[in-house]
Amino acid sequence: MNLIFLGAPGAGKGTQSTVVAEKMNIPHISTGDIFRYNIKNQTELGKKANEYISKGELVPDELTVSIVTDRLMQDDCKNGFALDGFPRTIPQAEALEKFLAEHGKKIDNALNIQVDENILVERLSNRRFCPKCNGTFHMIENKLTEEICPVCGAELKQRDDDKEEVILQRLQEYHKSTEPLIDFYRSRNVLTDVPPIIGMEKAIAATLKVLGIE
Ligand code: AP5
Ligand code: MG
Repeated sequence: MNLIFLGAPGAGKGTQSTVVAEKMNIPHISTGDIFRYNIKNQTELGKKANEYISKGELVPDELTVSIVTDRLMQDDCKNGFALDGFPRTIPQAEALEKFLAEHGKKIDNALNIQVDENILVERLSNRRFCPKCNGTFHMIENKLTEEICPVCGAELKQRDDDKEEVILQRLQEYHKSTEPLIDFYRSRNVLTDVPPIIGMEKAIAATLKVLGIE
């Protein structure tokens, strides 16, 4: 199945798409993760992307589209993929549609992960990630009393763009550039709204139900 996960920053795209991809045995492709990997390794792409990401702005479409289409050409995507955080603008969605059509494919489902906006800043401020095993956690939701990875024991870190002023800019970008994709995919009859649910297990269960996976 070819899936897209849409939603505001902190909606739970990463949390949900990782589980779905694993259950469906399809690759999880997060443009944010690809950029952060390149920033960490100080590649040319990383340096360029960081100019935008550090300010909460979107990386230019052309650069982002070429990274994703290159990734989708890889063999492991032939039975499906879960795109997390891409597309994020109408031009990206159009480029993806064209690319897929050229390869005889289409998007089967665009899951719109809804969230109450007033909890987003709290959610992102409490988010931590593990630089060793790549897990994402929430200090309160995961009942963590210290910043140590509950899976592998490494020291947890906070994303540079999870500072309040950058979060607010990311949110503005979401409303301006990404929210219009909801109507774009609705008009293609592939949009599924996933209602806002607090609690990771319940939220994941709701998404799996929508997709008909238990
Ligand atoms: P990206 O990494 O995609 O960030 P984002 O869209 O801002 O989304 P987040 O990763 O912050 O949130 P999420 O929805 O994945 O939530 P999560 O599951 O972690 O992009 C980063 C930047 O890269 C962008 O700002 C942009 O600059 C650039 N970029 C990326 N893609 C691009 C593109 N296509 N074009 C241009 N630029 C691009 O959950 C959040 C927290 O809540 C976690 O702590 C989690 O544990 C917790 N949580 C999750 N679900 C629940 C729940 N149901 N109940 C309670 N807690 C929950
Ligand atoms: Mg994410």
